Amino acid sequence: MTKKMTITSIKKSKGVSKLVMITAYDALFARLLEPSCDIILVGDSLNMSFAGRADTLSATLEQMIYHTNAVAQGAKNSFLICDMPFGTYTNPEEALKNSIKVFQETPVDALKIEGGADKAHIIAHLCSNGIAVCGHIGLLPQAVRSEGGYKVKGKSQEEQEQLIRDAKALEKAGVFCMVIEGVKADVAKEVAKSVNVPVIGIGAGRDVDGQVLVFSDMLGLFEEFTPKFVKKYMDGAALVKSAIKSYSDEVRTLEFPQDIHTY
Ligand code: KIV
Repeated sequence: MTKKMTITSIKKSKGVSKLVMITAYDALFARLLEPSCDIILVGDSLNMSFAGRADTLSATLEQMIYHTNAVAQGAKNSFLICDMPFGTYTNPEEALKNSIKVFQETPVDALKIEGGADKAHIIAHLCSNGIAVCGHIGLLPQAVRSEGGYKVKGKSQEEQEQLIRDAKALEKAGVFCMVIEGVKADVAKEVAKSVNVPVIGIGAGRDVDGQVLVFSDMLGLFEEFTPKFVKKYMDGAALVKSAIKSYSDEVRTLEFPQDIHTY
């Protein structure tokens, strides 16, 4: 069994080894993912792939707490991060109240907050009150409605400079690591070089300090759409459908159950 990471070992990994982060939403998958990953993220992406909604915005704190407890049961040896859902960290006091609720009702190790320099004062308030925070900069899924879609960041000089300002502001606020999403690879590389905490990429190229993927995307289980940055390591949807079809055929032809499945 590998040793569970801590915010100290996560910080120390920068420049030494790449961090492997993956999402999980339940105990069943968490148990399967845990042996090969450093960090498990209970992402609010669960609202799309698990709850079938169009975006992450309607995820609730109660939903995140329920799934975090389920994941924690399956991955007892993993460093666990829970996404703070949309609308739960609009000001420092509200953010702290909601973060304490998650910390008290789950065994989570840290919380993830979307936003850059504009959220630094909120993150600083959480960090100074005992909440470990992972930042999230670049493409922010919770901004999909206000930005009119999922927009790759870092295309203009202004955006590049803003991303570096964001990363530095989050580091100063006290994050122990941050996710960078949907950013041009050369820009993400500069962002990762500009701070001393690990910068974990998703759709941000390879020159960062680790990678994160949504497990249902990389296992090919989520069929609605596949972002360019996702590598499908198996065609999960086809495998599941084929297995269920075999079961269905065998029930109808009386091939299942056989004597070995019978008391
Ligand atoms: O919700 C999520 O799964 C995430 C990842 C895309 C990083 O935030």
